[in-house]
Amino acid sequence: MADDAVVVDDLHKHFGSTYALRGVSLTVPAGTVCGLLGPNGAGKTTAVRIVTTLLRADSGRVTVAGHDVTREPDQVRRSLGLAGQAATVDGLLTGVQNLVMIGKLYHLPSKVAKARADELLERFSLTDAGGRIAKEYSGGMRRRLDLAASLVAAPPVLVLDEPTTGLDPHARAETWDVIEELVRAGTTLLLTTQYLEEADRLADQIVVVDHGEVVADGTPAALKAEVGGQRLEVTVVGDPAAARAVLARHGTVTLRDGRLSVDAAGGASRVAEVAAALADAGIEVDDLGLHRPSLDEVFLRLTGHAPTDTNDTADSADVAHTTPTSEEIPV
Ligand SMILES: Nc1ncnc2c1ncn2[C@@H]1O[C@H](COP(=O)(O)OP(=O)(O)OP(=O)(O)O)[C@@H](O)[C@H]1O
Ligand SMILES: [Mg+2]
Repeated sequence: MADDAVVVDDLHKHFGSTYALRGVSLTVPAGTVCGLLGPNGAGKTTAVRIVTTLLRADSGRVTVAGHDVTREPDQVRRSLGLAGQAATVDGLLTGVQNLVMIGKLYHLPSKVAKARADELLERFSLTDAGGRIAKEYSGGMRRRLDLAASLVAAPPVLVLDEPTTGLDPHARAETWDVIEELVRAGTTLLLTTQYLEEADRLADQIVVVDHGEVVADGTPAALKAEVGGQRLEVTVVGDPAAARAVLARHGTVTLRDGRLSVDAAGGASRVAEVAAALADAGIEVDDLGLHRPSLDEVFLRLTGHAPTDTNDTADSADVAHTTPTSEEIPV
C-alpha cells in the first residue's frame, strides 16, 4: 500500500446553501489512526462519505491506498471497510446470516464466508448471539456486528463513523479494545468521533473540524500543549483571597469551581515553591497539584463551544461562529 493510506486534499462540499466542507485536508499514514473530531454538523460524515465513494465532492481530491475516489472507485472500495453512523445490518437476519451475506457480496465461497462470519463473531464476543436476529440485539451488540460487517473483506483501511456513539461505558470500552486490536494488526483507521476521550485513547493524530473547516491538527499531546502547558491548581480551606495573592506572584490567577489555577511552567519545582509560600502565609491547603489541560478544554478553546454542543442547526455552517471563550473567570 502507498505510504499514506488516505489523502484528503482541500475538499469542498455544499448542500444547497449549507457549506458542509470548506477546504478540509488531512493525511493518514498507513498503519496509523486518525481521529476526525468535531461537534454535530461539523462535516465529519460528509467527509467520510466522500472518502468511501458514497458522495462526490464539489472540489478537492481524495486517494485511498493510492487510488483516486473519483477515477478508481472500485479499487477504493476494495481497499476499505466502512461502518457508518447508522447501523447497516439487516435486523431480520441473524448475526451469522448478516456476515455471510456480506461475504457473498464480496464473492467469498459459501464455506469461506461462513468461516469468516464465525471468526468475526468470536472476535466481537457475539458467538452466543450469532443465531439470533439482529433486531433483538442491544445497541452495543448491533454496533459490534456493524464493526464485524465492515471487516468481512479484511480491508487494509477501515473508516468508522462514530463507532461508539450511544454506547454505554462498558460497551464503549469493549469496542475500543477491538479497535485497538485491529490497529495492532496493521489496519489503517480513519475514525470520526464526538468524544475527545475516544480520540485521545485511539488516535495517533487528531484532526479537529468545526463548521466544515479544520481548526486544529496534531497529536493529542501536541494539541494539549498548543492550548496551554501545565497549570498548578490549588484548593484552600476558607477564603481563597490570601492564597490568590500568593499565587499571583507566579502569573495570572483564575478561579473555577473553588479551585485557583496559575501557569506552572516550572513543573514540580514550582509546586514545591508555591506549597512553601502558602505554608509561610499560614494558609491551609486542601489540595494542590499539577494539571494538564484536558482535550475537552482544548476543544473549547479551539471551537468556542463544548464537544457535545448540539445547538448547531442544519445551516450552522453558514453562521460565523464566535471567538473562543474560556469558562475560567479571571480573579
Ligand atoms: N444530504 C444532505 N443534505 C443537506 N444537508 C446536509 C446533507 N448531509 C449533511 N448536510 C449538512 O452538512 C453539514 C455537515 O453534516 P455532517 O453530517 O457531515 O456532520 P457531522 O459532523 O457528521 O455531524 P454529526 O456529529 O451530527 O454526525 C450539516 O450542516 C448538515 O446538516
Ligand atoms: Mg455524522
